[in-house]
Amino acid sequence: MSFIIASNWKMNKGPQEAEIFFKSFLSFVLPDAIETYFFVPALSLQTSVEILAGTTHHLGVQNTHFEVQGAWTGENSARVVSQMGGVATLLGHSERRQYFLEDNLLIQKKIETAQKEKLKTILCVGETLEQRKKGQTHSILIEQLEAACLGLTLQSDFHIAYEPVWAIGTGEVASENQVAEAHRWIREFLKQRFLNDNQQIKILYGGSVKPDNAKALSQVPEVGGFLIGGASLIPESLYQIIQAVGG
Ligand code: PGA
Repeated sequence: MSFIIASNWKMNKGPQEAEIFFKSFLSFVLPDAIETYFFVPALSLQTSVEILAGTTHHLGVQNTHFEVQGAWTGENSARVVSQMGGVATLLGHSERRQYFLEDNLLIQKKIETAQKEKLKTILCVGETLEQRKKGQTHSILIEQLEAACLGLTLQSDFHIAYEPVWAIGTGEVASENQVAEAHRWIREFLKQRFLNDNQQIKILYGGSVKPDNAKALSQVPEVGGFLIGGASLIPESLYQIIQAVGG
């Protein structure tokens, strides 16, 4: 079983910086059991596709709309992403939920379109600190998952990233117990919703994954990969995470 290493560059790295990153990263030899995704800024997709041509790295963007064309100023089309050579999309990231007011219904529509367009899809879910303190973690996860997966027929790879909002970009990582518990709940949901198909769906952990905590987190049951923000911006630190996971 492969372990997913997904990088979320957020609004960082224009085409030239992406080129510098990949030229350096491609000099590392990766274990076979690692499956990589790079969610690059849409404006750097073209250059990234050209540099990674002929490699097994999966390239995608950080948001795609539920319509594939039309009067949606400023949006990314899932169809255009695949026309450009991208194969993946990241949906429901907490920054999209928080700053762009994306709700579960909107995210569900985006997932449906991304899957129809055959984009590999990673859906982010996770609770805020306030919700965790109030003991609402499970109910929030179930609410987000149920809404996002409503009526969903999988047509391309689909994975879930559990990202507690309070651990994103804060340096505060969730404890192994917290991760294990949340991932167990998500797997239970997937078993009920997707029955036998659920084993292909991996559950990634995201939130301050770094070279020094990667090994322990990768060994938590049901952690099938990482979604990495800050530490994915530097080729050496991303590679150190991969080495720590071992493959
Ligand atoms: P972080 O970001 O690794 O910088 O905490 C993770 C994410 O937002 O996906």
